[in-house]
Amino acid sequence: METAAPAAVIVAIDGPSGTGKSSTSKAVAAQLGLSYLDTGAQYRAITWWMVNNGIDLTDPSAVAAVAGKAEIVSGTDPAAPTITVDGTDVAGPIRTGEVTSKVSAVSAVPEVRARITELQRSIAASAAADGRGIVVEGRDIGTTVLPDADLKIFLTASPEARAARRSGELKGADVKATQEALIKRDAADSTRKTSPLAKAGDAVEVDTTDLTLQQVIECVVTLVEEKRTAA
Ligand code: DC
Repeated sequence: METAAPAAVIVAIDGPSGTGKSSTSKAVAAQLGLSYLDTGAQYRAITWWMVNNGIDLTDPSAVAAVAGKAEIVSGTDPAAPTITVDGTDVAGPIRTGEVTSKVSAVSAVPEVRARITELQRSIAASAAADGRGIVVEGRDIGTTVLPDADLKIFLTASPEARAARRSGELKGADVKATQEALIKRDAADSTRKTSPLAKAGDAVEVDTTDLTLQQVIECVVTLVEEKRTAA
């Protein structure tokens, strides 16, 4: 059941892959009447554009040179989030193995991060200005994109739990191979120089290893409601 948002609350949800960030963020936003932004989809979208345009992703200067070329538009309805590149719906193509294996290299390039961060801040500013509020999920939202967010959550889970969830989503993919790919991507995302995956000092950490999705959603909804009451 949707409850009207009394104030434009800005919520940042960060964490590695497979911690339930997307499912939790969408459900919390829908339940509380907030907008929703999947920032990973934006990095995937720019990666998709680079692959499609034959950019050499092993050359950061080649990636940087075209960082501003693609027009990326994110729809922020949590019931039906959308993502387009130059007007083309790329919701499906950005989830392929090829894009997933290349997104860390593209998102490590500072010019790409600057461009996408600007986009994210403007979407969050609109959601604050129209009084709706927003849940923004990613890797560096609490630390870099929205350091003044009203509430910051950092989701974690054991590598085994994360791989099991991700291979379930990928309909029966091999759990061990999925775990290796996840660990590799998280290591790349956590060790890059520009705004790596990190927990903000003032974020609330929620370990989801032994929680059901419903329990994680309830936990985050309670944290948002506590923030609103305190505001
Ligand atoms: O959440 P996801 O798996 O769809 O994200 C894809 C990649 O995008 C992830 O491996 C790192 C990058 N990313 C990022 O660098 N910063 C963000 N705020 C969100 C995602």
